[in-house]
Amino acid sequence: PNAATNYDLVVIGSGVGGYTAANRAGQLGLKTACVEGAAVLGGTCLNVGCIPSKALLHASELFDLARTKFAGFGIKVSPELDLPTMMVQKQASVDALGHGIEFLFHKNKVDRIDGWARLAGPGKVQVRKPDGSDIQLTTRHVVIATGSIPTPLAGVTVDQVRIVDSTAALTLREVPKKLLVIGAGSIGLELGSVWRRLGAEVQVVEFLDHIIPGADAAIASACQKMLEKQGFAFRLSTKVLRATAHDATVSVDLEGLKDGIKETVNADVVLVAVGRRPFVGDLGLETVNLALDDRGFIPTQNFATSALGVWAIGDVTAGPMLAHKAEDEGVACVEVLSGLAGSVDYSIIPSVIYTSPEVAWVGLTEDQVKSGGRPYKLGRFPFSANSRAKLQHEGEGFVKVISSTDDYRILGVHMIGPQVSEFIGEACLAMEFHADSEDVARTCHPHPTGSEALRQAAMSVDGWMTQA
Ligand code: FAD
Ligand code: NAI
Repeated sequence: PNAATNYDLVVIGSGVGGYTAANRAGQLGLKTACVEGAAVLGGTCLNVGCIPSKALLHASELFDLARTKFAGFGIKVSPELDLPTMMVQKQASVDALGHGIEFLFHKNKVDRIDGWARLAGPGKVQVRKPDGSDIQLTTRHVVIATGSIPTPLAGVTVDQVRIVDSTAALTLREVPKKLLVIGAGSIGLELGSVWRRLGAEVQVVEFLDHIIPGADAAIASACQKMLEKQGFAFRLSTKVLRATAHDATVSVDLEGLKDGIKETVNADVVLVAVGRRPFVGDLGLETVNLALDDRGFIPTQNFATSALGVWAIGDVTAGPMLAHKAEDEGVACVEVLSGLAGSVDYSIIPSVIYTSPEVAWVGLTEDQVKSGGRPYKLGRFPFSANSRAKLQHEGEGFVKVISSTDDYRILGVHMIGPQVSEFIGEACLAMEFHADSEDVARTCHPHPTGSEALRQAAMSVDGWMTQA
């Protein structure tokens, strides 16, 4: 084979899973290419996901604080929104991080290949270049990291103007007066928060009878109350029948799941955020006899598909659709295919929702522990008794630690409060090292920090603390 197009590894997709896999392979000395069909590297997370959404969450929170909270700190300002500049600074962060990926590819000797890739039989990958020509790569291994796309909703056609998905919701040109969000999951609550803080009236329609599927019930209901206090309106147990875009508005037909009552509501913009589904497109899976599972994911076992030398990671495979899951799989998959011992501990993948206050958890919820039948104890500590939160005027929320009664092993940690995303990693580390709640309770934590609330929740598992 032609040395220039012959690789040890071809990674399809340059999202967080793909670029991490490619860089790790380069570091391990594999001759590696990463094929990306989009014009920019970085995939969903960098370009239309984690990074731009968190950039807007941060900027919109500053605006909201300036409007509603600065005065309480003795700072008088009259903030005025400059949305175009807010969007430009968001994109500048995205662009800078994109250059970081290019730099790492260069450093780790990963060839970046522009174009859409498709398997063309065992050991072969065909790439359709932007100019329409095709090239063929030969390779010992292929890692498929093609990610995910928004799930469509029957009766609601996304036009990216009035009816948008998360991608267009990150680039609206003006603040909608009324935003209707379909889906009370991570995207709905985060992007709903952005536009609420910038001035929109936000209503969230959710099929289930609670928000944040997968979260501990106590955290989800506390989050709902806090968001309602901020002005969110929730319609739970409600089904969207259809949405119709008009010139300046959208009418949305709803049906209550409990009472069957139908109603039509109007909004300026509708955001559809009902989940994401794996993206495989025209990948030529049949050329290596690979079939998708019944939910459209590429089935894998320890990252290997049923086709020899073909591996898959990230959102296109089962499991939580999270950047850090894709990233860890990228590293572990390349280590496994190189004969090393890579692995991912799926029981310790943290979840975060970057609302204000933030929500973060890892491990089992209380309901899951209950239904598993293992005896447990709860430790709880409120941020109203945490010095740092108090002096920041952010005393809402609490930390909840679930420990097994027999060995005090930490089964789950659930938090809602200021910047809890920054110390859920501590809970992950404790669980990874099989620390029990007493180990966390006896570990010195810096004062005054929010992380002390985690320590004190761990203390209260054993009744050391009584405030909670
Ligand atoms: P992707 O990032 O989707 O990358 C796949 C890449 O493959 C794309 O660049 C695509 O163009 C390319 N590709 C596909 N097919 C081909 C082909 N045939 N040939 C060549 N290239 C191809 N997760 C978090 O953990 N934290 C967050 O805060 C967070 N926020 C999010 C906010 C939003 C609005 C969204 C939508 C998602 C968010 N996520 C977040 C989820 C996160 O973005 C995904 O879990 C992550 O991007 C998955 O990475 P991946 O590498 O599997 O796929
Ligand atoms: P999601 O799965 O988090 O939430 C979707 C919500 O829509 C659920 O509550 C679901 O019950 C509801 N729903 C489904 N069908 C519905 C219908 N017909 N009518 C009304 N409600 C309906 O999905 P979301 O928010 O779209 O995000 C997709 C994925 O992106 C997430 O699962 C997550 O993995 C990732 N993401 C992660 C973030 C983070 O880590 N902070 C932020 C944003 C996205």
